[in-house]
Amino acid sequence: MSRPLRFTLIVLAGLGLLVLATSFFVSRTIEEWVDRDLSTRSQLALRGARPALVTSWITGSADRLGALLTDLTRDERVVAAAACTRDGNRVAATSEWPAQVTCAAIAPRVRPAADAPGPQWAGWNDSVSVGAHDLYLSALPVSERGEPVGFLMLLHDRGFAEPREAQLQRLLVGTFAVLACAASLLTIILTRVSWRGWTNEIRRVLRGGMHKPEFQPLLKDVRELVDRLSLERELDGTAGTWTPQRLKDSLKRYLLGERVVVLANREPYIHDFDRDGQIVVHHPASGLVTALEPVMRACSGVWIAHGSGTADRETVDSHDHVHVPPGEDAYLLRRVWLTEEEERGYYYGFANEGLWPLCHVAHTRPTFRSEDWAHYQAVNRKFAEAALKEVDADDPIILVQDYHFALAPRMIRERLPKATIITFWHVPWPNFERLGICPWSEELLDGLLGSSILGFHTQFHCNNFFDSVDRYLEARIDREFDAVVYGGMRTLVRPYPISIDWPNRWAQGTATAEECRKSVIAELRLRDDARIGVGVDRLDYTKGIEERLLAVERLLEVCPEHRGVFTFVQAAAPSRSTIPEYQAIADRVEAITDRVNKRFGDGAYRPIILRRRHHEPPEVFRLFKAADLCYVSSLHDGMNLVAKEFVAARDDERGVLVLSSFTGASRELAESLIVNPYDLDEAAEAMAAALVMPVAEQRVRMHAMRAFVAEFNIYRWAGRMLRDAERLRRRERLSGRFEGSPNDLPGLEA
Ligand code: G6P
Repeated sequence: MSRPLRFTLIVLAGLGLLVLATSFFVSRTIEEWVDRDLSTRSQLALRGARPALVTSWITGSADRLGALLTDLTRDERVVAAAACTRDGNRVAATSEWPAQVTCAAIAPRVRPAADAPGPQWAGWNDSVSVGAHDLYLSALPVSERGEPVGFLMLLHDRGFAEPREAQLQRLLVGTFAVLACAASLLTIILTRVSWRGWTNEIRRVLRGGMHKPEFQPLLKDVRELVDRLSLERELDGTAGTWTPQRLKDSLKRYLLGERVVVLANREPYIHDFDRDGQIVVHHPASGLVTALEPVMRACSGVWIAHGSGTADRETVDSHDHVHVPPGEDAYLLRRVWLTEEEERGYYYGFANEGLWPLCHVAHTRPTFRSEDWAHYQAVNRKFAEAALKEVDADDPIILVQDYHFALAPRMIRERLPKATIITFWHVPWPNFERLGICPWSEELLDGLLGSSILGFHTQFHCNNFFDSVDRYLEARIDREFDAVVYGGMRTLVRPYPISIDWPNRWAQGTATAEECRKSVIAELRLRDDARIGVGVDRLDYTKGIEERLLAVERLLEVCPEHRGVFTFVQAAAPSRSTIPEYQAIADRVEAITDRVNKRFGDGAYRPIILRRRHHEPPEVFRLFKAADLCYVSSLHDGMNLVAKEFVAARDDERGVLVLSSFTGASRELAESLIVNPYDLDEAAEAMAAALVMPVAEQRVRMHAMRAFVAEFNIYRWAGRMLRDAERLRRRERLSGRFEGSPNDLPGLEA
């Protein structure tokens, strides 16, 4: 046998052995990973559900406990769940729980022989086989204030790991096969090429090789990667919390300080004449304004909005500009004037009688009229034209806001093909069947797909949007890269949950909770030991105000001890009042208030105080700080920033938030008491629980929510969108927008 051949055989045999050893090692490692992953998932699931679980456990509510366990099994990998007492008795279990896995058998493993609570009260995880199924059991102790309550068992499906394992094995064998071929080839070449000549070649490459063209793409890639990593470190929050300054710096550094142009129907500052003919400034009640205004303060630029105030024309210059905030001049407000017909057709008609009820599941029928549609198109064009006049480059950054401007992105794109258009939809996106109610659903989708980035509050709304595109347009949906490819252009569709500024300027400017409480009690003539609940909303049928007041009534029915003591203050800002549905909801809310006050009122005591008027932010924050609880009962809400503002107000870490499960905020503020607002008993129960909640528990919950909102603040929201925009722009500059290959997409991660 020749030497090269012998050498090749030895190398192949060695590689074979290596394949066997490595494949054994790989399957062990994957098993360990999977087990660790499942154990972590269990801990996370328990952490999320713990407060609700403990409450149901302690109150002995087996039905509620069962429902919570069923919720836990919504995770596709959790197949069954059970709750057991410390002694090994089953309290509740989901229907799939296998009879052969009993609480009694697992209890001794969860609780060590010493039977001591505290740190020794440890969990237990292991694989179990039930029939032919390979399962993983996590038994997790549940305690309340250091006292063990029982333990939770979760059964996970380990089956999903097998395909992963097989795939990795295949990849490994393939890699070794390629290596084997390469080794053989190398051996043969070695015998052919003279040693001296070969080493000379290596020397030459090492000396001058870094300048060889073959290395250039590699170096370019490495440089780009380093660049991107350092950018991400700074932009992703790894370098600390997002602040206005950080947002400003990022804009300057990565978007070269481009001027941001915002298109939003509602203006952040409204100039009105008061009764004496003096000009006063109002802050409108709008979640959109709450969120976006601090961003504009940080970024500067121009906000284009409908000039709706009675004194708005008096306060602009010849370009319809006014510097805002008044006295601070951080950015420009450009007012667009609408005729009465335009406002009726576009704002009241198409936007608020059509799209608003279409996007919200609140049982109000959408009305679509062709004349409203014509106004909607015309006004979108008017605003798009205004945006074109405000930009100072051919590739500006334009932020289009909300359902008032679904057509504007396409209109702007046609005139400025290189613009980065970031559209944010502040309300839910309906499922495709519901969207089909709108006779112009295709035009709406087409308009929105003029955007570079389209943002929603939740992944669920993004999915609804993808399904709508799939249903109504000839477009390709690239779910891997969260994008829609339509008419040769890509639009990224991603969730960006909106938030508020932190530290919050209104919260900082308000007196202490104690002072607020005193002044509210004095102003409303409440008794000194009054317990106060608050609700703050526009008078809108999506906000569940009727349900909220009915829940207050139920609370007083079932808990007589709160009569005479508990007062619910509802601040209700008049909104869209020319629309019949809005007049009707206002009447119904008045009627319920009167009825409940008659039923439970006594002398000066009124259980519900309804204040139907506009409240400026300082008044709202004073109410928040005075309250024992705040109830946000929306029937459907994209996010709901009132909930986050209440949390921001409570720097004393007191007060309880009762929150509707139909708000986007309920996905984030897990320490609130989350209720179904239609379930009056549940809502009344939650308010009752809030009124007797120990101060320590209030603190723990409020502290956690404040930490969350502080971290996930509005600067982060804007920073993430601008970061994605920056990457898009960089890619587009390198490769041209319309190439449409997935490789041209920036590597965006959640
Ligand atoms: C919602 C919409 C905003 C709107 C706000 C107030 O939050 O998403 O776009 O500004 O309601 O409504 P209004 O019609 O008064 O602007």
